[in-house]
Order: sequence, then C-alpha cells, then structure tokens
Amino acid sequence: MSYSELLEKIKARKIKVGVIGMGYVGLPLALEFANKGMQAIGFDIDPKKAEILLAGKSYIKHISAERIKAAVDAKLLDVTADFSRLPEVDAVLICVPTPLNEHREPDVSYIVKSGESVAKYLREHQLVVLESSTYPGTTNEILLPMFENAGLNALNNGKKWVAGEDFFLAFSPEREDPNNPDFSTSTIPKVVGGVTPKCLIIAKVLYDQVIVNTVPVSSTQVAEATKLLENIYRSVNIALVNELKMVFDRMNINVWEVIDAAKTKPFGFHAFYPGPGLGGHCIPIDPFYLTWKAREFDVSTKFIELAGEINTYQPYYVVERTSEALNSHKKALNGSKVLILGAAYKKNIDDMRESPTLKLIEILHEKGAEVDYCDPYVPKLPKTRKYNYAMESIPLTKENIAKYDVLLLSTNHDNFDYKLIYENARLIVDTRNAFAGFESGGDKKVVNA
Ligand SMILES: NC(=O)c1ccc[n+]([C@@H]2O[C@H](COP(=O)([O-])OP(=O)(O)OC[C@H]3O[C@@H](n4cnc5c(N)ncnc54)[C@H](O)[C@@H]3O)[C@@H](O)[C@H]2O)c1
Repeated sequence: MSYSELLEKIKARKIKVGVIGMGYVGLPLALEFANKGMQAIGFDIDPKKAEILLAGKSYIKHISAERIKAAVDAKLLDVTADFSRLPEVDAVLICVPTPLNEHREPDVSYIVKSGESVAKYLREHQLVVLESSTYPGTTNEILLPMFENAGLNALNNGKKWVAGEDFFLAFSPEREDPNNPDFSTSTIPKVVGGVTPKCLIIAKVLYDQVIVNTVPVSSTQVAEATKLLENIYRSVNIALVNELKMVFDRMNINVWEVIDAAKTKPFGFHAFYPGPGLGGHCIPIDPFYLTWKAREFDVSTKFIELAGEINTYQPYYVVERTSEALNSHKKALNGSKVLILGAAYKKNIDDMRESPTLKLIEILHEKGAEVDYCDPYVPKLPKTRKYNYAMESIPLTKENIAKYDVLLLSTNHDNFDYKLIYENARLIVDTRNAFAGFESGGDKKVVNA
C-alpha cells in the first residue's frame, strides 16, 4: 500500500487501529474508533484485560461495561495479548505507562518494551503514534531507530527503512481527564507532531476521524514539550496556592474565600485550588521528565523543583494541622483515632495512583495515630510499589463517625453524606473546603488544612 492509498483508506474509515495499553487512556481511545465504525484491536501484556473486555465487562469505573459490550458484540473491538497480530492493523497507537523510577527519574522501559514489540512486527506503511507523556526527544531518540531497523526483519525487504517513506511515526500527547463531565477523548483537541511532514499528515488525518480538532505542530519534540508545559503549568500553580494556603492559614484568612473572590476578575486570573498533595499519573510525575532531560543540556529547572518541594510537603502540613487541631481539643495525635475520608487521588473516581492519602496514612502511622479510611470507590487499598496497607474502607455510619477523634477529608467525593459527617464528627480537618457553610455559631468543629 502506498502513502496515498493509506491516506484514502483512513479517510474512508476502512482502517483497523491497534492500541497498545488498555488502561485509562488506551481503552477509551480504542472505543472511540469503534464508536465511529472503525475496527480497533487492543494489545495489552496483561492477558486478564483481554479476558475481561471480551466478556463485555469493565475494570475502570467511569467506562461503562455496556459501551465495551456493544463494541465487542459489533465485532469492532477485539483485545489480545498476542502481538504477532500487529501486522493486521494500519495504525498503532502506544498508550503505555511512563512512571518515575526509585531515583525519581523517567522510567521509559514501557515505551522501550512496547516499541520493541512493534518493531518486531512492523510492516511497510504502518503508522505508529506514541501517546504516553514523556520528555522531548523520546519519539526520535528511542522509537525512530528501532523502526528504521525493522526493515531489516526477515518479514520485510532487508533494507533499512526511512520514516515518512516506508513507515510513519508521530507523537500525540494524551489529554484524557478521567470522569470529566464536560470533556471526553473525542471532544478534547489533540496536538500532533510528525517525524516528517508525511508522518504528520497521516497522523492528523487519522485523529480527524475521531477527535473534534487536531492541532498540528512542527515536530514530535514540540508535541512532547506541549504536554509537559500543560502539566508543569498545573503543578506550579497548585504549588503557588498551596504556599498561599499556608501563609493565609497563619493569618487566619480562608484561602478558599480569597480564591473565590479573585476569580471574579474576568481576565488574567485562572483559579487553582490547594489540597493535601498532588496525585494521579500525570501532575506529580511529568514535570520531572523535563527536569531530567534539561540536565543533559546543562539547564536547571528551579521553578519546577521548587513547586515539587512545596507540593511534596503538603501531606506533612496537613498532618501538622491535624495535630494542632487535636491539641486544641486537648488530645495528642499519638494514640488518636483518625478516619481519612477519600482514598482516590481526586473526587468521583477510583484511581489510586500517587494518591496523597497513602502518604497521609504513612505520616499518621509514624506519629502513632490509629488510622482507618472510607472511600466508596476504593473498597480495599491496592498494593503499590511503595505501600502495602491491608486496609478496607469503613462504612460511613453515624456510629462509626462518632468513634473517631478526628475525620480528615482528603478527597471530596460528591456522594459523601457531608451533613451526616458534620453532625456526628467530633472534629474535622478539611483539605478541600467541602464543609464550607456548615460551621455556624461558635462550634469550630472544622479546621481547614
Ligand atoms: N490516566 C490519565 O488520566 C492520563 C492522562 C493523560 C496522559 N496520560 C498518559 O498516558 C499514558 C498511559 O497512562 P494510563 O493512565 O492509560 O496507564 P494505565 O496504567 O492505566 O494503562 C497502561 C496499560 O498498558 C499496559 N502495558 C504496560 N506495558 C505494556 C506493553 N509493553 N505492551 C502492552 N501493554 C502494556 C498495562 O498492562 C496497562 O493496561 C501515560 O504516559 C500517562 O502519563 C494518562
């Protein structure tokens, strides 16, 4: 198939798309192609994922089993752990994790491994797009050489391949915001950068089939850097309001009220909110991808690191405020019973990755507190690389609430019964302003942190 034939095939939506990594990003992306009548094959090293999805079930709370079942029944979604099926697809979209290693440096091993799988089976004129968040240069430095050498595979023509001629390679950052009621995969504009102009055109036309607006940029590096700018912007601004929170707390000024007042300014101000620390797969991690890469160019990233320090300190600050709040009730944190409300890293989802609640539990344990948690979306705390708590969610009953010396709100899920909590708690430490408006008279049951 030639370049122009592939282009026409995509425009006619007669293509098969492969998505590597059936997680929070890859699964909704594959479903988007299936929704528009194109065939999608999900590839995941975890064979259980194929089993669950092919049975029409879901393992992600906000992605409905009905949507998956409809796509599977219509034979528009197939899922497999068998990478030898990669030649069946016209385009391969890579959505694998990009965490930090124990030295807080980029761990691109998932990109390398999935790139090797693709390179092993790459056939002429396939398009490959990397979507994982990563440092500028990843696509060209890691994936490009692997795919150039794919031409030498026994299956192929035995010549080194050229990007934009024999295969197409691009980077397009994922901007998924799980469970955002206003935006989903297809309605979030998508930035795309190609290794060559032809790579860019093919990738753009592919995303045009499912995404409301694709935004072409001049290179894969620009596309990679765009994602990092977006997440660093958030990390730095969250750090700023976290710092202001600590200053205003000392001055007895409510930072939430200040932000609400400031955001009435119709220009030049975008509201960010404080919290118990950063969570999720992106904001606590992505900035350090740039910090690491910048070192190669002898540039330091002081702003990013300072924001990281302030954000990392937040769980410690919240525990200090909890200790002070207990002290004003003539209690020590040591030996107190603490119930943490919310385990997921943000409201109304079940995602526990990098959740500050796990750090809060660790610090509270170190200080001698007895800790339980309640989260309707997280029945048991999952084992992570760093933490392994054998803890189960406590039911939120009147009796249970009254048993604790303090309730510490970490995640403000909408389905918590805030009235029940307020009426029965002895003391509440609120990191999300969820109890604004509850305090009347001189009660002083709620302390912001
Ligand atoms: N979750 C989000 O909200 C979000 C938002 C924007 C960007 N991102 C970025 O998207 C990327 C993917 O994140 P995610 O949240 O979907 O991760 P995830 O952990 O939910 O899913 C990744 C999937 O990849 C699979 N996998 C790992 N190695 C593989 C391999 N070699 N071959 C095939 N499958 C493999 C895993 O089994 C898993 O199912 C990351 O770079 C992340 O930073 C995530």
